[in-house]
Amino acid sequence: MPDYLIRHATLRQLQVFEAIVRLGSFTRAAEELFLTQPTVSMQTKKLADVIGLPLFEHVGRNVTPTEAGMELYAACRQVFELLSNLEMKVADLKGLKRGHLRMGVITTAKYLAPEMLGQFSRLYPGIELSLKVTNRERINERLLANEDDLYITGVPDDDLEVEAFPFAPNPLVVIAPREHPLVGKKNISLETISKEPFIMREPGSGIRDATLRVFNAHGCRPQVRMELGSNEAIKHAVVGGLGLAVLSLHTLTLEGTGGAVAILDVKNFPIIRQWYIVYPKGKELSLVARTFLDFAIESEDMIHERMVTLWPGMKQFLQSPKKARGKKKIKKAVGKKKG
Ligand code: PGA
Repeated sequence: MPDYLIRHATLRQLQVFEAIVRLGSFTRAAEELFLTQPTVSMQTKKLADVIGLPLFEHVGRNVTPTEAGMELYAACRQVFELLSNLEMKVADLKGLKRGHLRMGVITTAKYLAPEMLGQFSRLYPGIELSLKVTNRERINERLLANEDDLYITGVPDDDLEVEAFPFAPNPLVVIAPREHPLVGKKNISLETISKEPFIMREPGSGIRDATLRVFNAHGCRPQVRMELGSNEAIKHAVVGGLGLAVLSLHTLTLEGTGGAVAILDVKNFPIIRQWYIVYPKGKELSLVARTFLDFAIESEDMIHERMVTLWPGMKQFLQSPKKARGKKKIKKAVGKKKG
């Protein structure tokens, strides 16, 4: 038994330390753990005293773990992985009355995931839910670090070892302010769109990658006037007349077809995509996560119907993933295309 560490270090200290290394910052660790920064610093100092070696090097504003810090970090990851498996097994033994579901979703899924989680929690009220919304690149990082139970994302990258289940269409459309001269025009070319100022998502965004791929494939380039890291901010910028943009149809859920932005009829658009529920291959899912996965896949008819009701004009582009894959669930429906 590691008697010395057991008597002098606490799991809480290890948790604080692990978060600092993973997030690369004392401030972000404090935020994630709902602690004050002095508490985080104090816990880390106590831990370094117990280990008897410095755990971090401070270079300017950056904190980097020392060699001892890296060893400790590797050990922490193993301990926490074991403890979280244990928690999962205990929750399974208690059935679906208790437990935790952690989801990480790409930004467009935030227009749907909270509603699905709401319905799920009405069925299983004892389950605690947490939802992290971020862009594709960050979701991939979270997936590799095994930070959540399940993810909603676009087509998984080929080099990711995952199980992936398509469950809802996620078409990308070109949007403009309702009074824009191109609104109502048919079959607008990408060349025409390339002459308009354009608002683009930030690097790391799946929408950005998918949009640039379509423009590049047709020898065009959007005239990016502004980069924004939020779909909502982009919508407002479009309404404000700052330019056109490509967004997921789901970002228009609340306004339906009659809102302040209009969908343009552009050649090669919408970009047809699906959302996938994903988890790392080989990961043992908790009973809660397995139940949510089935619930999400079963919800696809409802999601599909809701989209067709909201945007009847887009019906032809809203093929249900079930139809796309036949009746049976496929495990890894990963094509060459990314995004
Ligand atoms: P993003 O992904 O937030 O990374 O752009 C959204 C999507 O691919 O639908």
